[in-house]
Amino acid sequence: MKILLLGKNGQVGWEAQRALAPLGELVALDRHGSDGLCGDLEQVDALADTVRRLAPDVIVNAAAYTAVDKAEQEAERARAINADAVAMLARQAHELGALLVHYSTDYVFDGSGAQPWREDDAPAPLSVYGATKLAGEQAIRHSHCEHLIFRTSWVYAARGGNFARTMLRLAAEREQLSVIDDQIGAPTGAELIADVSAHAIRSTLKDRSLCGTYHLAAAGHTSWHAYASFVIDRARRSGAALAVQKITPIPTTSYPTPATRPLNSRLDTQRLRSRFGLHLADWRDGVTRMLAEIG
Ligand SMILES: NC(=O)c1ccc[n+]([C@@H]2O[C@H](COP(=O)([O-])OP(=O)(O)OC[C@H]3O[C@@H](n4cnc5c(N)ncnc54)[C@H](OP(=O)(O)O)[C@@H]3O)[C@@H](O)[C@H]2O)c1
Repeated sequence: MKILLLGKNGQVGWEAQRALAPLGELVALDRHGSDGLCGDLEQVDALADTVRRLAPDVIVNAAAYTAVDKAEQEAERARAINADAVAMLARQAHELGALLVHYSTDYVFDGSGAQPWREDDAPAPLSVYGATKLAGEQAIRHSHCEHLIFRTSWVYAARGGNFARTMLRLAAEREQLSVIDDQIGAPTGAELIADVSAHAIRSTLKDRSLCGTYHLAAAGHTSWHAYASFVIDRARRSGAALAVQKITPIPTTSYPTPATRPLNSRLDTQRLRSRFGLHLADWRDGVTRMLAEIG
C-alpha cells in the first residue's frame, strides 16, 4: 500500500509521519517537495501531477493555512490552500479510487450554546479561516471520493511552538498573566490525532462504510485560562522557577483579535469512538505527557 502525506512538518504532519509509517510505503512531502515531487498546495497543477504519478492508495492532507488572524487579510491565499487545493485532491482521490484523509476544525461552528457540537450540526463559521476550512470539507463531500474528515480542536505538539510553551515562557518572565476564560474546548495532541488517523485508515480500508466526517478531540473540556493554570501548576510542581503570581481570567471581549473565535468549541466524539471502537483519554493526560517531553 502506498500513502501520500502532505504537510509533513506541521504539528499533525510530523506525528503522522511516525504513525503512518507501519501501514505501508509512505511518501511524505512538505511545501518544498523532493525528488521532482510537488508538495505545495498553492501549485495545484504540479501537485495534481504528483498525485497522478504516485497513484497512492491513501492521501493524508495534514497541510493547511492555519494562521487564523492573518487569514482575515489573506482570504484568497487561505481559500486556495484550504479549499481549492483540497477540491483538487478530492477529485484526484475519486479518479484513483484512493482514500482521502483530511483535517478540519471546530472553527466551522459559530460557538453558540454550551452543548458539544455533533458532526451533523449546522456549520456557521465566524472567520475567514473557518469558512475556508468548511469550503474544503464541502468540496470533499461533493467529489464523492472515499474520505475521512476529522474535525479537531486546540491542537498542540511537543515539537514547535504551542500555547503551553508560550504560557511557560510568559510565566517565567512576568508576575501577572491575563488569559481568556470564556472560550471552552479540548486541547488535543497531534500524537493522538495521528494515532487515531492510522487506526481509522486501517479500519476504513477494510470497511469502506466507515468513511465520513468525525469529531476527534481529547475527552473533557477546559478554558484557555484553566489550561494555562494547569500547565503552570504542573511546571511548578516539577521544580520550575516561575515569576508568575497571578493568572487573571479575562473575557474574549478584553482581548480583541482580527478573527472572531467560537466561544463553545466542545466537540462530541461519540461517533468516532463508537464506530472505530476507540477510547479518548482526558485532555490532561496528553498535556502532561507533552510537558514531560518538552522538559
Ligand atoms: N492548530 C490547531 O489548533 C488546529 C485546530 C483545529 C484544526 N486544525 C487543523 O488540523 C490540521 C493540522 O494542523 P496543524 O496544527 O498541524 O497545523 P500546522 O502545524 O500549522 O501545520 C500546517 C502545515 O501546513 C503547511 N502548509 C501551509 N501552506 C502550505 C502549502 N501551500 N503547501 C504545503 N504545505 C503548506 C505548513 O508548512 P509551513 O510550515 O512551511 O508553512 C505546515 O507544515 C489542519 O487542517 C488544521 O486546519 C488545527
